[in-house]
Amino acid sequence: LDNGLMRTPPMGWLAWERFRCDIDCQNDPKNCISEVLFRDMADRLAEDGWRELGYVYVNIDDCWASKLRDSNGRLQADPKRFPSGIPHLAQYIHDRGLKLGIYGDMGTYTCGGYPGTTLDKITIDAQTFADWKVDMLKFDGCYSNDTEQEQGYPAMSKALNATGRPIGYSCSWPAYQGGLPPKVNYTLLGEICNLWRNYGDIEDSWGSVLSIADWFYNNQDILQPAAGPGRWNDPDMLVVGDFGLSMDQSRSQMALWAIMAAPLFMSNDLRTISSQARSVLQNKVAIGINQDPMGIQGRRLLKEKSGIEVFWRPLSDKASALVFFSRRTDMPYRYQTSLGKLNYTTGSYHIYDVFAEREMSVLKDSTNFVVSVNPSGVVMWYVSAPFDADQEYGH
Ligand code: DGJ
Repeated sequence: LDNGLMRTPPMGWLAWERFRCDIDCQNDPKNCISEVLFRDMADRLAEDGWRELGYVYVNIDDCWASKLRDSNGRLQADPKRFPSGIPHLAQYIHDRGLKLGIYGDMGTYTCGGYPGTTLDKITIDAQTFADWKVDMLKFDGCYSNDTEQEQGYPAMSKALNATGRPIGYSCSWPAYQGGLPPKVNYTLLGEICNLWRNYGDIEDSWGSVLSIADWFYNNQDILQPAAGPGRWNDPDMLVVGDFGLSMDQSRSQMALWAIMAAPLFMSNDLRTISSQARSVLQNKVAIGINQDPMGIQGRRLLKEKSGIEVFWRPLSDKASALVFFSRRTDMPYRYQTSLGKLNYTTGSYHIYDVFAEREMSVLKDSTNFVVSVNPSGVVMWYVSAPFDADQEYGH
């Protein structure tokens, strides 16, 4: 969507995967969906180095609303859990240099059973979000049929635009259409949405992360050309920092999402996250690869019989990123190849190992090398533009 927003994939925090529809503030006051949770996360984003790295969205998901609209037919936040109201929360978040995202649903109810946005409510709900100074809307698709979605998703795009407030627009539409053509029209999605969920919900497990990555890369011929500045495929949240992934698997999710030019919305508890998980999510070069200004989504280049897969993404300044990923479950695998075999042109390249955080020796396209890839882990490289080593070093 050409609204000037999200020219690189949006980054931030989203409540759903980690905090779900916990509305029991009586017994679980720190973790329930309430203004306390969102203020806490805003504090952490602002104070623990996240904001400076680009993680600026604080996004509410389902279960924030009151079960009833107000007397003017407007959505309202649950008064017990958001006693200060959404405009106040927006102010709090903006004061910290962050942005607020909210959640709605194209349909009669949200998936959690809260008021949805039927076709007749689109204008008023868009205006309410704009009045509240919301910066992003995730528009889910429970409790609606194909025809309603066909009308509703473009209509909400228009309605948000008509408010005059810049509001990033995340569409769950394709996820409700099976994610693939002919039902899904990616040209249209790119015109009306900044990002879209193509596929099922992520869960806090390696199996879930892997099945999502597989679906996106297996369908890359269709999905890859759909992405670009202002329009992104969304494989769903980062679960790094939760309970389901090992450190190797955490680096794998970060690497595979970066190559995919995926939105980076963490769903974790930033108040208690381990320093190890934090260092994966705050890896500057991995973030830089994800945020590359050309915005070209990367691809899987190779699926080896050994269980090693190689991913590649072209970057600005003739640079690129490579990921070596292992599906193996035995031991670190010594994968031998050369840049030439990975479609690199003649020349020499500086290699930076993203997670080891160190410069490697210069590699010629023809030089064979070995990378050792841990089970369900990755080795991620930032590869410089090619140069002529003989000229550069005068031999
Ligand atoms: C389905 C979406 O895909 C999830 O991300 C989440 O928003 C839930 N609905 C909320 O009910």
